[in-house]
Amino acid sequence: MTTLVVGGAGYIGSHVVRLLSERGEHVVVVDDLSTGFRERVTGADLVELDITAPDAREKLAFHLRASGADSVIHFAAHKQVGESVANPELYWHDNIAGLATVLAACANAEVRDVVFSSSAAVYGMPDVELVTEELDPRPINPYGATKYVGEWMLTDAERAHDMRTVALRYFNVAGAGWPELADTQVMNLVPIVLDALAAGRAPIVFGDDYDTPDGTCIRDYVHVLDLAEAHIAALDYLRGDERPHRVLNVGTGTGSSVLEVIDAISRATGQEITPEIGPRRAGDPAKLVCSTDRIRGSLGWESSRTLDDIVESAVAARRDA
Ligand code: UFG
Repeated sequence: MTTLVVGGAGYIGSHVVRLLSERGEHVVVVDDLSTGFRERVTGADLVELDITAPDAREKLAFHLRASGADSVIHFAAHKQVGESVANPELYWHDNIAGLATVLAACANAEVRDVVFSSSAAVYGMPDVELVTEELDPRPINPYGATKYVGEWMLTDAERAHDMRTVALRYFNVAGAGWPELADTQVMNLVPIVLDALAAGRAPIVFGDDYDTPDGTCIRDYVHVLDLAEAHIAALDYLRGDERPHRVLNVGTGTGSSVLEVIDAISRATGQEITPEIGPRRAGDPAKLVCSTDRIRGSLGWESSRTLDDIVESAVAARRDA
């Protein structure tokens, strides 16, 4: 089996590549190394290619054919909500046109199985205890919109080209499976708090007046290694006969508040942390927790790592990388 992983030098992609090569699969990574790193790719071939370049489709189709790939996992995309609001054109172009190129190359090379990185951002601000895939997506920013459009594109590609696709809607991903594969971008809560501590600054909590037990926002934090295992399960699902669902949430089913995450970081670092309470951040839902019924039923996958595991792995990665 050969899998071509677009964006395989990135944080999440490199974890999936590592697991695939550990189980003896041939992997080809395609990455433009704009946010990914060459050093993250071990046990796989690396093709340096920008999927938004004019000749990307032909080149990608060539590499798919030359490697004998039978599946593709597509990670490469921009993922900053704020940036997407300020510069939607970048997201339309790179996220949507990038996916169009990947799907067209797959069709050309007759690759049938595609796993796509979607996001819980497609849901917007749902006012529910647990977010199920049956909820009508209502993205509230261009980032979430590009992910939702991407899911439609998969549906069209399935119909036109006899493809089989799965879109995984990630909740809040954090932690590191291996120190050298850790998230080096400081865009999300765990790395932001660790960065603040390292700089001797107090982390800032974006609002403590939400309708939640401690007043801070609740999210579903999933360990990147659990998420990577979900991709392996999704590939096996595509290769099997039964495939009742094409859109699956990936989370743990358990919510943690911002203060609970900061407490976990305090435990893992042995440092007392006194956060500063700041104003709310625009567009933050009070609570976003994943319903895991569908992915458990479809893939037989469930997370096995806790919030403490996530935070400890992130702390260890900063220490050991
Ligand atoms: N937060 C703080 N202080 C900070 C940073 C974050 O209080 O300095 C809070 C946020 O308000 C939020 C929580 O921590 O309540 C998590 O924030 P992140 O920015 O880490 O993550 P988001 O939940 O906003 O978004 C993440 C991904 C998105 C994805 C979304 C889907 O970053 O790409 O999950 O659920 F779309």
